[in-house]
Amino acid sequence: MDTRRDVTTRSRSELWRRRLLPVVLLGGGLALAGCSGGAPSALNPAGSGAGRVANLWWLLFWISIAVFVEVMAVLAWALLFRRRRDARVRHGQPLRFVTIAGAGIPLVILVTVYAIGLRDLAALGDGPDPGAPTIEVTGHKWWWEVRVQGGAGATANELHIPVGEKVRVRLRTADVLHSFWVPQLMPKTDLIAGEVRETWLHADRAGSYRGQCAEYCGTQHAHMAFLVVAEPRQDFDAWVARLAAPAAAPQTDAQRRGQAAFVQGSCAGCHTIRGTGANGRIGPDLSDVGSRWSIGAGAVPNDGGHLGGWIANPQTVKPGNYMPPQPVDPGQLPDLIAYLRSLK
Ligand code: CUA
Repeated sequence: MDTRRDVTTRSRSELWRRRLLPVVLLGGGLALAGCSGGAPSALNPAGSGAGRVANLWWLLFWISIAVFVEVMAVLAWALLFRRRRDARVRHGQPLRFVTIAGAGIPLVILVTVYAIGLRDLAALGDGPDPGAPTIEVTGHKWWWEVRVQGGAGATANELHIPVGEKVRVRLRTADVLHSFWVPQLMPKTDLIAGEVRETWLHADRAGSYRGQCAEYCGTQHAHMAFLVVAEPRQDFDAWVARLAAPAAAPQTDAQRRGQAAFVQGSCAGCHTIRGTGANGRIGPDLSDVGSRWSIGAGAVPNDGGHLGGWIANPQTVKPGNYMPPQPVDPGQLPDLIAYLRSLK
């Protein structure tokens, strides 16, 4: 008897330690990570769109907690007092209790949440004024092409918005289904082949907000990230002007040799650098590649070493992407890196 009880006790504590405890710790850790400042979490909103969603989330969370506590209280009451034979409890009262707790309260909660949800949907559908800036974003496997409407140039995986203003974002896909999601600013909008979708972005404080493709689109779906930079209006205007202007001219001999290698080599077949002979449209426009936050849409940091590795063999950095390994003369690689790093 004793041995058996001992085994049961031990296996229970074993179960707790091995299975449940890690789940509890992981859940708690994720919750804390999601709430801590700076995390790209929808529960850490920085704009009016995501703010509405976060408020709705917290409302549903606290309602769920209240319902859970109520159900547990009723369950405890039933377990503790089930043996009491009281005529009043057996007849009239249970029916009234079941009607109120089982139908009345849920009805009030559902109708209220539905009404708040409709109000928030209407607010999210309330786009910017007709004169607001429009940014055109095209999803590619696996990067984001970014243009300002009416502007000549393009960039990749980074778009800027003026703080405190609603900016229209027009979304297309060049291939498969993607989804444009900036958790701290706005819920997801899917990019559907053959359609032009619209969403908007609004940030009420300056900062960089990470965005992510939120629809599985192939092997490098996870490396299809982007950055939304919210900045004062004059900085945004300067960014728009930079996108329309030619790329920075090379300043040193190494940079000049790098530019020549780029324009005369295979690079120019796929990439554009504004103001040079490189006009390829297959890969990202590289006119400002030196100032971007990452290489390969979030694959690796943007520094000389990673850039060199990427040029030599992009398949080792982001397997499956559409840039083939380049037959670059090792003597030319430092020049190419120097030139591309100077494009800011
Ligand atoms: Cu694009 Cu996932």
